[in-house]
Amino acid sequence: MYDLAPSTEDFLSDVIRGLSMPRKQLPCKYLYDEAGSRLFDRICELPEYYPTRTELAILNRHVAEMARLLGPRCLVVEYGSGAGVKTRVLLDHLAEPAAYVPVEIAREQLNESARALARDYPRLEVRPLCADFTRPLRLPELVNPGARRVVYFPGSTIGNFTPDEARVLLEQSAKLVGAGGAMLLGADLKKDPQVLEDAYNDREGVTAAFNLNLLTRMNRELSTRFVPENFWHHALYNPREGRIEMHLVSRVEQRVAVDGREVTLAEGESICTEYSYKYSLRELRELAEAAGFAIERSWTDDRKYFSVHYLVVRERGE
Ligand code: AVI
Repeated sequence: MYDLAPSTEDFLSDVIRGLSMPRKQLPCKYLYDEAGSRLFDRICELPEYYPTRTELAILNRHVAEMARLLGPRCLVVEYGSGAGVKTRVLLDHLAEPAAYVPVEIAREQLNESARALARDYPRLEVRPLCADFTRPLRLPELVNPGARRVVYFPGSTIGNFTPDEARVLLEQSAKLVGAGGAMLLGADLKKDPQVLEDAYNDREGVTAAFNLNLLTRMNRELSTRFVPENFWHHALYNPREGRIEMHLVSRVEQRVAVDGREVTLAEGESICTEYSYKYSLRELRELAEAAGFAIERSWTDDRKYFSVHYLVVRERGE
């Protein structure tokens, strides 16, 4: 495994920077330690959390057409591969896939799922890359580089970036796959705000546990002294920005030591831990085009809750 995951120093400096801002925030990528990744897997099973099952239904229904568009002998680079369920749907239908490079920040989960995949697809070259895929990537040396590079990015994680960051990520992806390359992208769609808010405020409290786990992670890895009971989980839809915002709200006025500094939180003050942007089909088209891609084909479910897109790199002058 190639390991370029952020270090504890990166984590600490991101935390210090985020908690020093007038509106406190923490990068959502840190939600995914081992416990966070397991909690996220549970979120995907919740009745209120429609994205995973809706996307999977779209993939299952249209994967033959997707595989046809991608063509034979692809090198598949997957961002944030997670538990690998959607990976198998695609790999099972691709014609002679050449190699598979899962890029994932959660080391334990990456290792586990890459090992299982290599076992189940013995003819496929599997080269896990433990890295932050928002940074420009260099792919590991491959025995079989394939006929065409494809970035597979299901899961609507694109929504966890601001539109500007999302554009940069797509630009980097266009560069990574190069001329003739493609991308398969999953994105959550705008819809009734109540449906959205229910999805991020599940009745079992799994999303709350996922959010609060970030405090436990900071305590363990950065020796901070957050008391999770002093915070509550709050997720709301911001219609002006077109995004769900997830917050940890301080129940009390408190001071917390972070690497020798004191962070103060007023009662009711929040730390924003995640954005989850929701797009319209038009906004997605504009985003893809701004990044140098063209959307050649889109699929949605009947309720138009979720979308999957086939993007190709635009030729110069197109
Ligand atoms: C990973 N990502 C697409 C999820 C989302 O819906 O934005 C993360 C998540 N946060 C709370 N629930 C799920």
